Amino acid sequence: MKDYPFELAKVLPVNQDTKVERGRPITCREWDSYPSIFLLSTDPECWNNKSILDVGSGDKWDDPSRTFPGAKVCAIDPEFGEKGRIKWNTAHETVPGIVQNIPYGDESFDHVVSSHAVTQHVSPKDMSVGVLEMLRVAKVSGDVRLVPCIPKDLSGIDGMLMEAGFMIDLSQTGSDGPMAIINAGPDIQDPATKAVVLNKIRTSMGLAEKVS
Ligand SMILES: C[S@@+](CC[C@H](N)C(=O)[O-])C[C@H]1O[C@@H](n2cnc3c(N)ncnc32)[C@H](O)[C@@H]1O
Repeated sequence: MKDYPFELAKVLPVNQDTKVERGRPITCREWDSYPSIFLLSTDPECWNNKSILDVGSGDKWDDPSRTFPGAKVCAIDPEFGEKGRIKWNTAHETVPGIVQNIPYGDESFDHVVSSHAVTQHVSPKDMSVGVLEMLRVAKVSGDVRLVPCIPKDLSGIDGMLMEAGFMIDLSQTGSDGPMAIINAGPDIQDPATKAVVLNKIRTSMGLAEKVS
């Protein structure tokens, strides 16, 4: 258990949507809301040895182990760290980072999720780069989940992804609005193929190839 500047009992339930810190609004959602935001399994049995990366996670003040027992839950946000405005996040691992250059290797997570961050806080071009990064660190058997996401949000990258063999499901809506679920289709059966097709898309966008 990490050291907190307060007793968790005093701040739970953490269900206020917006906390104002140094004049800037930051959202603050409890991990318990993640299954309904991202339509993830509520079966505690299914999470053992699974992994989740939350991109642009913001503050989190409750323990992800309650919601995802046995899973490793990691978070990146540019605002983590000494100079960032986010001081406390209860993910099992918190790393300062941006979606455009995720500080994890290929095939690291079963689910790579982002709520109200990647589709709302980065430019369209950076969001396309970010989606490629989220797919890179997601396992070939895993997926990327973006909330809220409407077809227009993916218009800079959806054609290239589908041509390369990824599948994009925009039909589902969770508690925080419409979601995109992106995963490898049947033509992308192994990590090596996934890495090659993602690098082809990067090259066509004028980006350097990524080597994990
Ligand atoms: C509105 S908050 C959402 C926080 C949390 N995901 C939620 O739904 O409560 C947006 C977050 O995106 C983060 N962010 C901004 N630019 C980012 C980037 N390029 N990559 C990753 N996260 C970013 C911000 O620091 C902020 O914590």
